[in-house]
Amino acid sequence: MSTAAVVTAAGSGSRLGADVPKALFPLAGRALVAWAVLRVADACDEIVVTAPATHVADIEVALAAVPELAGRPMLVIPGGAERQQSVAVAIEALFAADRTPPDIVLVHDAARAFQDPHVTHAAIAAVRAGADGAIPVLEVVDTLVEAAGATGELGATVDRDGLRAVQTPQVFRAEALRAAHRDHSTAQATDDAQLVRASGCRVVAVDGHESGFKVTRPSDLPLAEHYANELRATELLASELSVEEKP
Ligand code: CTP
Ligand code: MG
Repeated sequence: MSTAAVVTAAGSGSRLGADVPKALFPLAGRALVAWAVLRVADACDEIVVTAPATHVADIEVALAAVPELAGRPMLVIPGGAERQQSVAVAIEALFAADRTPPDIVLVHDAARAFQDPHVTHAAIAAVRAGADGAIPVLEVVDTLVEAAGATGELGATVDRDGLRAVQTPQVFRAEALRAAHRDHSTAQATDDAQLVRASGCRVVAVDGHESGFKVTRPSDLPLAEHYANELRATELLASELSVEEKP
């Protein structure tokens, strides 16, 4: 079964507040979007990246700078005004009349650039095994409470044991994802699983990973730097070992 990735990178990153769109923010010498694409590239046959309309060429340059991605089928397109619209235009690009559409599509936020590839593989395996969709989830660590009303008095504490926090990549049967986006184009969903489930499809959970956190605010950057530096060190080690192995 062929698998395509949609990597959403068209946001401005207003909460990060950097002088470049979030996807272009450099970490250990590589743009955030490049880390995100690298982490999912081995799991898929082709990749569509949504870019801010003003920065399509910059995102192409950032991806072309990564030797490990050379020769991979990849398309960078302008995204939409909201994330949901960015995903929708990327799906339509995958289903363009002049190409063979994929069987499975994974939708991944560039902002979750360091997600463990085991999570991606587990979600793909669940869809291959028959689910319409599979998404990574994590237990909630904070105590949760309903927001305070006008008087400032808090609402009830919510039982967190019954709740999960949702990550990406979210993996779907390609046809199910396409139909869901078409049928619910006016919904304002914060993830794709909501749309697919609203179409009556079966979406299952797989274990997420803490490395799939979303780079959102400046305080997230030290952790992102940590993961980027660790991956760089692993790459260096692998290239040193391959030099030693050569006769
Ligand atoms: N995204 C997108 N198209 C949009 C908005 C967001 O492709 N119109 C992408 C972002 O690039 C990001 C992912 O969706 O990788 C998750 O969104 P978020 O973390 O909210 O990123 P931004 O929207 O860029 O950040 P902010 O909300 O702080 O402006
Ligand atoms: Mg946003």
